[in-house]
Amino acid sequence: MCEWCGSKRNCRLLDMRLTRVVWMSVCVVTLAAVAIAGKKPSKPSSGDAAKGKTVFEQCSVCHNATSLEKKVGPGLKGLFRRSKLASGKPVNDENVMARINTGGEGMPPFKDILSDKERADLLAYLKTL
Ligand code: HEC
Repeated sequence: MCEWCGSKRNCRLLDMRLTRVVWMSVCVVTLAAVAIAGKKPSKPSSGDAAKGKTVFEQCSVCHNATSLEKKVGPGLKGLFRRSKLASGKPVNDENVMARINTGGEGMPPFKDILSDKERADLLAYLKTL
């Protein structure tokens, strides 16, 4: 006796319901996996230091990356290990990015020259100096 339809034999209704539940679970799991996988590449603020090194070529006209020796601007070796910028502000992502974006005191602004991605890569590279 089938508890769903009352039919006495060969009833597939219960089977069908179970099958649907199984397929729906598969669907949900797949969608979740796709959502998680899809999120990874666009994780914000994690720049690529190797790419940033290439971007830095535009900065190396004025900045040494491997020494403190002054070119047009100060050498940036160990920038993120310092406590303060020349401006007296603490060294952090925000202040360094602001310096890159707006320039000033002899440095040109790079806000319109570099993309968001290039600046994120650059920041990652500066942290390795
Ligand atoms: C035309 C020359 C020039 C270029 C190109 C240039 N800068 Fe500068 N930069 C300067 C000068 C000059 C200063 C010093 C400003 C000051 O005394 O506050 C400076 C300051 C800085 C500082 C602050 C250093 C400190 O100790 O306070 C950072 C960080 C910096 N630049 C990063 C960059 C990056 C990254 C790039 C490439 C996107 C770049 N600069 C391109 C001239 C330049």
